Amino acid sequence: MDTYAVVGNPVTHSKSPFIHARFAQQTGKIMHYIPLLAPLDGFRQTVLDFRKNGGKGMNITVPFKFEAYALATRLTDRARAAHAVNTFRFEAEEEILGDNTDGVGLVRDIEINLNFPLAGKQILLMGAGGAASGVILPLLQQQPCLLAIANRTPEKAVILQQQFASHGPIAAGSYQDFAGQRFDLVINATSASLHNELPPIPPDLFHGTALAYDMLYSSRLTPFLELARAEGVEHLADGAGMLVEQAAESFLLWHGIRPETRIVISQLRDELRRHAP
Ligand code: ATR
Repeated sequence: MDTYAVVGNPVTHSKSPFIHARFAQQTGKIMHYIPLLAPLDGFRQTVLDFRKNGGKGMNITVPFKFEAYALATRLTDRARAAHAVNTFRFEAEEEILGDNTDGVGLVRDIEINLNFPLAGKQILLMGAGGAASGVILPLLQQQPCLLAIANRTPEKAVILQQQFASHGPIAAGSYQDFAGQRFDLVINATSASLHNELPPIPPDLFHGTALAYDMLYSSRLTPFLELARAEGVEHLADGAGMLVEQAAESFLLWHGIRPETRIVISQLRDELRRHAP
């Protein structure tokens, strides 16, 4: 049986095995998809061993997406732009194709599932780490009016601005730099919610915002979404839809079939509720 894995550290919390099992059921694919814990200094060996034992492909999660980028022998354009890889497909001649499906997952969730077209919109992206850099190009490709990047360490936002400046209208700065500006969509790509923290969002930032999106997912509202709700933002979304959409894109790369995502998103929500602390 073809075997796939999600590799990370930690990895036990990953919902990818749950999602891919639903996709396999739905499409009639017979496959195995397992969580694989790699030691922090043993990513490369874990990947090579998995492959030697017959593995066909992998998803890569924190903290290995940059190492995965370095290990791939061939990259898709979107992986090259992101400087990060979340999907491997093992190919003949020891080739490892590296792809990044995070950005397209976010865009599909926002545009298709949430019915929120990005063209002409003012977007604020909070954060300048791996999660943020992976979604900048796919967001710009939808032709927003502006993509502003705010980060606690503004220098990191400026580096991303310079990196992607040729792809569309992009601004960068501290959170305070964007105080008083109006954004249709605010996306939280920081890891603050992981620690139950909030980025230093200036008062009134959500004035005029129609959708607040947290790339993390949780069984309850994250502090960022709590704040957005309190400030009157009508539409709130967490990253559960993005997670399923990026998985569907990996599934497509491996099997040539795009699974139905809506049903799996609601199954994932039920699963998260069942395991809520
Ligand atoms: P990831 O791969 O999840 O993006 P990362 O590369 O470590 O992880 O980046 C974490 C991001 O979250 C950074 O933008 C970080 O801001 P700094 O660059 O200033 O460190 C941001 N972040 C984490 N905790 C935060 C907090 N409490 N408030 C604001 N930003 C935070």
